[in-house]
Amino acid sequence: MTHHHAPSKESASLSQLDCLASDATRRLVREATRTDHQRLDRAMSTLELGDPVGYGMFLKIHYTALTSLARRWRAEDQPAFSALLSCVIDDLQALGHPVRYPAASIKRVDSLRPWGIAYVIRGSRLGGQVLGRRVPGAFPKSYLDCVPTLPWPDFLKQLDEAGGSNPDQIEQIIRGAKIAFAAFIAAAGKCGVL
Ligand code: HEM
Repeated sequence: MTHHHAPSKESASLSQLDCLASDATRRLVREATRTDHQRLDRAMSTLELGDPVGYGMFLKIHYTALTSLARRWRAEDQPAFSALLSCVIDDLQALGHPVRYPAASIKRVDSLRPWGIAYVIRGSRLGGQVLGRRVPGAFPKSYLDCVPTLPWPDFLKQLDEAGGSNPDQIEQIIRGAKIAFAAFIAAAGKCGVL
């Protein structure tokens, strides 16, 4: 027979409080992908963005990841993410690296994974703002300058509603975020950055 002592009771109620916090989903997804982010952050920070070659690799990594995830975008993210993709393609073209726009095909996914994918793609813009300062003004910057119409805090609010304090739903979102980080990590590897 198991006895529930005061300490375990206390931790149970604490974790319950955790679930009730309005940003529980975001915090859990961030925690579950912290090491993925660190790995990417470190690798991408080694790119010499003041140099057309390094900057081209940076853009190519984003292009490759965005393209490989394109089939799993949420319909709601389609306009914003297509715009991002067009911008990165334009910038690569301007740098002399022509790439193709992927064939449009959205795979309807019956899970919340696309929310996790949206979280990572939208979150990658935050680091982009930091990195953008290191890119010379003369370089094509439409991708880094592209601002999604839905502000980040508003997206996070929707993400937390989608998670709904439901462990299964939050798990699906984490799975999607892991898939998206893996796409960025694979893209970085392909470009020789990892
Ligand atoms: C391209 C790969 C990258 C991806 C996919 C990515 C993804 C993300 C995500 C999902 C978040 C949101 C975390 C949260 O919930 O708060 C985030 C935040 C952030 N990332 Fe990255 N990131 C990438 C690269 C970088 C790089 C290279 C840097 C280094 C400058 C960086 C710096 C940041 C910073 C400073 C934040 C926090 C911004 C804030 O809270 O205002 N990221 N990133």
